[in-house]
Amino acid sequence: MKSTFSDIGLRLAGPSGIQELMDDCGAALTTHPDMRMLGGGQPAAIPPVQQLWRERMREMLDDGSIDRTLLNYDPPGGNPLFREAFAAFLQRECSWNVASENIAVMPSSQSAFFLLFNLLAGDTAGKKRRILFPLLPDYIGYANQALTAGQFTACLPRIVETAAHEIKYHVDFDRLRITPDIAAMCVSCPTNPTGNVLTLNEFDSLHAICDAHGIPLIIDNAYGHPFPGVIHNGFQPQWQPGMIFSISMSKVGLPGVRTAMIVADAPIVKALSNMNAIVSLANGNLGQALLLPLLKDDTLIQLGPQVIRPFYRERSDFAKSVIANALGEKVPWALHAQEGAFFLWLWINGLPIPAAELYRRLKERKVLVIPGHYFAFGLDEPWQHPHECLRLTYSQPEHIVREGLEIIAEEIAKLF
Ligand SMILES: Cc1ncc(COP(=O)(O)O)c(C=O)c1O
Repeated sequence: MKSTFSDIGLRLAGPSGIQELMDDCGAALTTHPDMRMLGGGQPAAIPPVQQLWRERMREMLDDGSIDRTLLNYDPPGGNPLFREAFAAFLQRECSWNVASENIAVMPSSQSAFFLLFNLLAGDTAGKKRRILFPLLPDYIGYANQALTAGQFTACLPRIVETAAHEIKYHVDFDRLRITPDIAAMCVSCPTNPTGNVLTLNEFDSLHAICDAHGIPLIIDNAYGHPFPGVIHNGFQPQWQPGMIFSISMSKVGLPGVRTAMIVADAPIVKALSNMNAIVSLANGNLGQALLLPLLKDDTLIQLGPQVIRPFYRERSDFAKSVIANALGEKVPWALHAQEGAFFLWLWINGLPIPAAELYRRLKERKVLVIPGHYFAFGLDEPWQHPHECLRLTYSQPEHIVREGLEIIAEEIAKLF
């Protein structure tokens, strides 16, 4: 029997970039272990980080708190003790003026964004309200989250050459237009896929524009502040009333617990909790239980600067030198400046085939990458630039990263 799906069903159940990415990466890490996985946003296996989570689990077994954790449903906005401890942590470590009413625990930042985008934007009292992404390229996972057509809009960046073979994307304030249909602005910082970090000036200007129009600025801190803190220039955005910040547990080595925290004004937090009750009933509470005692001292906040950030810095430098040597001077290539997150963003200026075709050729050679066009969405006009770009992850073991990057360079060199 052929099922008939609703309009919303078709939007969500059809093929999408994020679903292909997760299927490919999941297979590479399980049923196709010969695939060199330079594709996903998988955190690396960092021994001291894994050790910390193993110790915490052992403590939970020993003190019996595992039983309560596994047995009980929490309220839909999160465990009240965790929300209080997390607010105290943000006050103490980040000087954010927040209370537990400003914290919503969610079953992953992926699902938090789905709820947020559809809470704030879409069909509203007979009008279409839209989320504006002020700095493309941005996170592939947002692209298919709108429940109505035309709910996303986006602004192209100013591309600045910052050094030989290096570019940086900047917000193009000349192009940024806040029309009455804009419900919120959203940007990941550091940005997945490029590793871009907003300058303080850009952050302040976006905040001022949002404030002037009475709309929230949503900052997705999945890789950034306060943890895992993979920001190389020390930028620490300050949450203020009217803003919405997302902080995920995934990139401190816990993507398996599927937990994230939203920091926002109390009415947004309440609305998200109510939505979460409908969609998920409650959050998984294992992640909250693992983190809770670490919120009381500086273990968690120090993990970034002392362990996680240096690890990725070294990996990033290694991957950069491998790709630079392999591509040489014959190919017109540039990498985005490495300011944070876990990725290399490679631009091959004038790439003779679309990045999607290059992705297929690389997959045949057992190298998994993400073609750049998936990170451009919400546009009315075609944009060639991301079809010349690839996102490459360097979180897998070094020999895999080296082999993968050398094969990528070989395939690109064949085209010039
Ligand atoms: C920028 C960004 N936001 C959100 C997510 C989703 O994270 P999670 O759902 O694991 O919290 C990711 C995952 O890679 C990401 O890169």
